[in-house]
Amino acid sequence: MPVIDAITAFHEDMVRWRHDLHAHPETAFEERRTADMVATRLKSFGLEVDRGLAGTGVVGTLHHGHGPAIALRADMDALPMTEANSFAHRSTQPGRMHACGHDGHTAMLLGAARYLAATRHFQGTVHFVFQPAEEGEGGGKQMVEDGLFRRFPAHAVYGMHNWPGLEVGRFAVRPGPMMAAFDIFEITITGKGSHGAMPHQGIDPIVCGAAIVSALQAVVSRFTDPLHPAVVSVTRFHAGEAWNAIPDRAVLAGTARALGNEVRDATEALVRRIAAATAEAYGADAEVRYEQRYPATVNHAAEVERAARAAALVVGAEHVDRDPVPSMGAEDFAYMLLERPGAYIWIGNGATDGGRHLHSPHYDFNDAILPIGASYWAKLAESVLAENRAE
Ligand code: NI
Repeated sequence: MPVIDAITAFHEDMVRWRHDLHAHPETAFEERRTADMVATRLKSFGLEVDRGLAGTGVVGTLHHGHGPAIALRADMDALPMTEANSFAHRSTQPGRMHACGHDGHTAMLLGAARYLAATRHFQGTVHFVFQPAEEGEGGGKQMVEDGLFRRFPAHAVYGMHNWPGLEVGRFAVRPGPMMAAFDIFEITITGKGSHGAMPHQGIDPIVCGAAIVSALQAVVSRFTDPLHPAVVSVTRFHAGEAWNAIPDRAVLAGTARALGNEVRDATEALVRRIAAATAEAYGADAEVRYEQRYPATVNHAAEVERAARAAALVVGAEHVDRDPVPSMGAEDFAYMLLERPGAYIWIGNGATDGGRHLHSPHYDFNDAILPIGASYWAKLAESVLAENRAE
């Protein structure tokens, strides 16, 4: 497979960077050691380095000749969970783990920066964007709000995530939605506490809550077009303390996902209506807190074409899936795609045996794909910025 030789030559360096990051995971907006490491490396490769966007964000910039500008983005944060692996580079921090491979994403983008700084076979500008807090906290949104594209104007923006279950040496990318919109809700049901033996003297928020959980199953199964994907999951149900006392309150919480904004808004309206009406039927009261978090990650067709062609230069066109099934997971690269045209691609991380799923305590990024990912970034920059020069 035509991975770039000059990148393969420093594969071991990328593995070392990745293992160092893996052993020292940092969670949302606290990626200080990670940002120091990234900034130091970028400077050593000869890039201009800016820091401070979204707190711990780092942007490295390479100019060469005259041409348009693109942004390549990696995420740097770890998850608040404890690693179950025992290999030498396992997390040194209890309750912190690179269980989503952002250590590998950072190492691959650093590898591309090193190669492109040394070779400069492009005309224009490449911004290497290292963002904090992808996991639930919206570091990508924060970088945009802090002026990412104002300070670093780019005509297009590209993202990449490793994908367990997709073979090593494969990529997947499609126009339109790649990842879902992600929302959260909390429903507080207020009834009236009473003796467990005399339920008629109170209003039972647990029975009411159970009815709401059941009724919410109809949001997707009965109210949503079967051809428009959505998920509503109640993931928490807290109520009561004693076995013989009916409590005053019950609190439900969960998450909703959708691939399109219309379905997303309709889902919110239905959750609110079903919670309120069901509570009323039981004589209880339901207060719904509903927050729309990340929007859907929606790829732009022209940039998908460029991304797919760059991936094909590395692994061959037959190993680039142009029509993968979108994921109901979410990704805050979505915010960057609302600002600039772009494409988000999956790179195969290989088999999931041994629990190598994203967010599993047994997960580890696959070091074998570091040169594949770095070569993709390099080919993408070289082809997009050469292609534009010819126009
Ligand atoms: Ni991730």
